[in-house]
Amino acid sequence: MPLTFRHLVSASQITRPDADFLVDRSIAMEEVLAGSGSDVLKGKILATLFYEPSTRTRLSFETAMYRLGGQVITADGIGSSSLKKGESIEDTMRMAGAYADCIVMRHPQSGIAEVAAGASPVPFINGGDGGNEHPTQGLLDLLTIQRERGTRSGLHVAFGCDPKHSRTIRSLVRLLCLYEGNRFTFIGPPSLRMSDDVLSELKQRGVAFEETDDPRAGVTADVLYMNRLQQERFEDPAEFERLRRNYVLTASMLQGSTVTIMDPLPRVDEIAPDVDLLPNAAYFRQARNGLLLRMALLESMLAA
Ligand code: NCD
Repeated sequence: MPLTFRHLVSASQITRPDADFLVDRSIAMEEVLAGSGSDVLKGKILATLFYEPSTRTRLSFETAMYRLGGQVITADGIGSSSLKKGESIEDTMRMAGAYADCIVMRHPQSGIAEVAAGASPVPFINGGDGGNEHPTQGLLDLLTIQRERGTRSGLHVAFGCDPKHSRTIRSLVRLLCLYEGNRFTFIGPPSLRMSDDVLSELKQRGVAFEETDDPRAGVTADVLYMNRLQQERFEDPAEFERLRRNYVLTASMLQGSTVTIMDPLPRVDEIAPDVDLLPNAAYFRQARNGLLLRMALLESMLAA
């Protein structure tokens, strides 16, 4: 099935048939991984341009490409790129698109992915633009919810503890809105509440949500999606220091709870290491799902 988008900038572009297809195709990719891989992307080259640190996103995109028979070129954006020399993002895209068949970019500036996609002569994928969006993380989170809970509708999903700055929360909320009966709890202090644009989308769609500063509020949900406080997006470093240990999930808080615990990682202070031993701690399985999802996405966007 062809996807409805050529470039992937925001989760808002993804239709329910797109999401359904990608979840199913990702699960089928287990067979490719169990076998000797595939050569469906033989002759294709992916350019990875990361102007902000990345471990999982970059490694899983690059691995996905190799597992499907493709190849990768990369520019270490931090320190060595033409952007540092003053090149516009549009020129960088034109240039990378002249070498590669697809571009994945991460950048600290919110909204720049849309500009980059507009200038890209080849399919472009947003690997995270500032605090705005991270649509492939949203898709792999949706895949994880499906695999852990057996459904992606009718769920109570709690998000902690920095809804304001977390691009992964913004993307996942938008994708979960494609399915009936999901409702949300946003956990965080008043200064880190979810931004009005997302809340008004929820109101418009008639999706139920609540906001609370009680760190225990997620324990009775179906899914508790944690994310570190996004230190690099705080205007005031003192505020980050004041809040960083306010919201720490521990195994004792989760006693008797069957909630699925997710985190896009890296985990910093928000989940104590004793939670890792619980069978419902899904975050390392979630990270592996990133490989399957990116294989499915690259195959769909690039295979002839
Ligand atoms: C997330 C990101 O970059 O937004 N990481 C990731 O892609 N797995 C979450 C984070 O950095 O906290």
